[in-house]
Amino acid sequence: MGIRSHISHLLDVTDLTKSFKGLHALEDVNFQVDADEILGVIGPNGAGKTTLLNLLTGYLLPTRGKIYFEDKNITGLRMPAVTRLGIARTFQNIRLFGTMSVLENVLTAQQLRTDFSLPEVLLGMGTFRRKERELVEQAMEHLGYFDLQDQADRPANSLPYGMQRRLEIARALATSPKLLLLDEPAAGMNISETDALHEMILEVKQRFHLTIILVEHDMRLVMNMCDRILVLNYGRVLATDRPEAIRQNAQVIESYLGKSHHTAAS
Ligand SMILES: Nc1ncnc2c1ncn2[C@@H]1O[C@H](COP(=O)(O)OP(=O)(O)O)[C@@H](O)[C@H]1O
Ligand SMILES: [Mg+2]
Repeated sequence: MGIRSHISHLLDVTDLTKSFKGLHALEDVNFQVDADEILGVIGPNGAGKTTLLNLLTGYLLPTRGKIYFEDKNITGLRMPAVTRLGIARTFQNIRLFGTMSVLENVLTAQQLRTDFSLPEVLLGMGTFRRKERELVEQAMEHLGYFDLQDQADRPANSLPYGMQRRLEIARALATSPKLLLLDEPAAGMNISETDALHEMILEVKQRFHLTIILVEHDMRLVMNMCDRILVLNYGRVLATDRPEAIRQNAQVIESYLGKSHHTAAS
């Protein structure tokens, strides 16, 4: 509504708050993300990181606060609408269609964005078939970025865990997002798997001009990959800064980094 008085960001979040029966999972969170950035989100378990992604995607509605995406107020929009505007996410707990094939998982996601119109379907199978072929080609391309093209016909739940995580990202990509939200994509991966994932994410970021919000416990990945890092603690923003500055921030070390050397992510 109306003209906003500042330079516009891709994403602009103000006073974002989510309460669950009196528990403030997120409280007065403010931050912006510019196009092409990778913003890391870190913080102890229960800090509100997943809740933040749930709010940004319309999976949950905020108790208070505003979310602007490309200068549009998207506060209160539900997930399908948010997806169509160009925000996609992966889930911390993998949510693939387990018995569907790898390819079908991606095809299903494409259709959230690329609807077949009814006239097209009615006007003949020619158009429909051609479009279907294009979609399959595109899906195979997306799978290729994550080295999953050879797995296309396997049921998703038969893939090793690391591949399922990558499939989640390929599926998110299939909705043609501008902003991609990743919820602990490297969880459970070893160092070489994590490094491979890092490369894959950077490749699709460039290829599709993505802006990324990365929730992750793996500090090596976060520090290497992100332009800026937002630190959450008990639902509040503790700091937003460049990785070098976050690494030296006394409060952040106290609340999170100091412990993360010993605490396995969960
Ligand atoms: N749907 C929900 N209902 C009730 N409480 C929730 C819900 N989702 C998250 N919470 C609570 O909100 C807080 C933040 O959780 P979450 O966003 O999952 O943290 P993180 O992802 O940083 O580990 C936790 O205390 C969690 O128990
Ligand atoms: Mg979480």
